[in-house]
Amino acid sequence: MTEVTVRPFRDTDAEPLAVLVARCLREVNSRDYPADLIERMCAHFDAARFRELAAVREVFVAEQEGQVVGTVSRDGNKVYTMFVDPDRVGRRVGRQLMHHIERLASADGHDHMETGASITGHGFYHRLGYHDVRVSETDFGLNYILRKPLPEQGPAAIP
Ligand SMILES: CC(C)(COP(=O)(O)OP(=O)(O)OC[C@H]1O[C@@H](n2cnc3c(N)ncnc32)[C@H](O)[C@@H]1OP(=O)(O)O)[C@@H](O)C(=O)NCCC(=O)NCCS
Repeated sequence: MTEVTVRPFRDTDAEPLAVLVARCLREVNSRDYPADLIERMCAHFDAARFRELAAVREVFVAEQEGQVVGTVSRDGNKVYTMFVDPDRVGRRVGRQLMHHIERLASADGHDHMETGASITGHGFYHRLGYHDVRVSETDFGLNYILRKPLPEQGPAAIP
């Protein structure tokens, strides 16, 4: 297997990202959320939504052998839309995407990252050093707000 690279979103990523996110929601997140909510989220994260998001946030794509295998986006030190291809979970793609945006936020001078996590993704963020700040109820159900301090010594300190 060739290595996974992380790069900025391109317009042609919108359709494959919508497919990837719908698969995540239906195959992974569905264990924690009711079917009607999952379908509402699938409808929300369509290709047009990714193009809209890319206009207001930095959207990144993980790519392997020309295939889109994951995505994350950031607005400063805020993390959004973290999804990894269900066929590739547990291969550190999520960790690689998070480290990419943590380095960028650290280079911008932020001293911490903040993310909203689904029930499904909560343990992933704990594993990456995030701690719980509060719980919020959103249009898409229960969401955990977590934070992680970023090292003062700069982006090189993030592996
Ligand atoms: C959660 C998700 C992003 C993790 O992506 P991934 O590429 O499988 O994660 P990684 O392989 O980089 O895992 C990094 C570490 O977190 C751990 N981890 C991953 N998912 C976890 C989970 N749900 N609970 C607990 N630990 C988890 C891994 O074991 C790994 O630990 P290690 O590095 O010490 O071995 C992915 O499973 C996913 O897309 N889920 C559906 C969408 C979702 O819930 N997104 C979360 C944000 S709301």
